[in-house]
Amino acid sequence: MPIQMLFGIESLAGKKLSVPDLVSIHPLTLQDIQLIFAMAEAIKEAPADYAAALKGKTLALIFEKPSLRTRVTFDVGMTSMGGSVVFLDHSDAKLGERESVRDVARNLERWVDGIVARTYKNKSVMELAEHASIPVINGLTDLLHPCQALTDYFTILERFGSFQGLKFAYVGDGNNTCHSLIDGAAKLGMELWIATPEGFEPNHRIVSEAEKFAKESGARIEILNDPVEAVRGASIVYTDVWASMGQEAETEDRAAVFADYQVDSELMSHARKGAVFMHCLPAHRGYEVAPSVIDSPQSIVYDEAENRLHVQKAILYLLMG
Ligand code: CP
Ligand code: NVA
Repeated sequence: MPIQMLFGIESLAGKKLSVPDLVSIHPLTLQDIQLIFAMAEAIKEAPADYAAALKGKTLALIFEKPSLRTRVTFDVGMTSMGGSVVFLDHSDAKLGERESVRDVARNLERWVDGIVARTYKNKSVMELAEHASIPVINGLTDLLHPCQALTDYFTILERFGSFQGLKFAYVGDGNNTCHSLIDGAAKLGMELWIATPEGFEPNHRIVSEAEKFAKESGARIEILNDPVEAVRGASIVYTDVWASMGQEAETEDRAAVFADYQVDSELMSHARKGAVFMHCLPAHRGYEVAPSVIDSPQSIVYDEAENRLHVQKAILYLLMG
């Protein structure tokens, strides 16, 4: 069934999100998320219908950290809808160092129509959104990765047709990707089991906020330290790197602490028959995931990567169209 029908959305024409920015999944309503999914499906099926949707609009891409997927998909997404991008390399000087984040926002809003920012501090993206009158999209911070998690849930919906009756297991570090997956699960009413080593659990504030939404949505969020228990009976097994960007110096120490959390064929054998493996990428084979899993038919990592394009086009269209 088309996603638009599944969620009872009568028409996509003229629809907007209830928020001016996409800094996090937390402020989105369930209807916003469903609209993003329905719009992403429409754009994926008929991209030519949206070829002029952002004609004449410009998106600024501010990146303090490296990127393959986020940078390329926002660039291709924008140009495939008739717009253009300007890339601001902030790998040397962090946002706010040469001039205040507020001044960056107050300048950019005079020239461009939207901003994607990938920063270390989540506060930098929040400040941009606070001071810029144009939409600001979080392209990953140390705390959150909302475009990734929205894409992951879209990919799950595409694969399984529903979020109901699925156990979703996340194994590894309680990091930015994990936090946004928690935010999404809470809104969508998913059953999400997270297994991390002790001391690497997700942020308490994010979990407790999610638990408030879970009461309404029927979501179940379990945080534990046993990967086998998390994966047992799961339809989806997800992992991310053990050392995120900015934590490179901890790579070896973390590899030792996380050794029992590798998603390998043995761990996958506890999942449900037909379970899929997911990873936001970039992946480190032999660390968080074994080649026998990520390179197997169970792996849908390249579908996730492709869907970054469609979901982010939907976000751009809904915020800037
Ligand atoms: N998954 C993801 O955001 O990839 P990049 O870091 O390459 O953008
Ligand atoms: N947790 C990872 C995600 C990369 C897309 C990082 O922050 O480096």
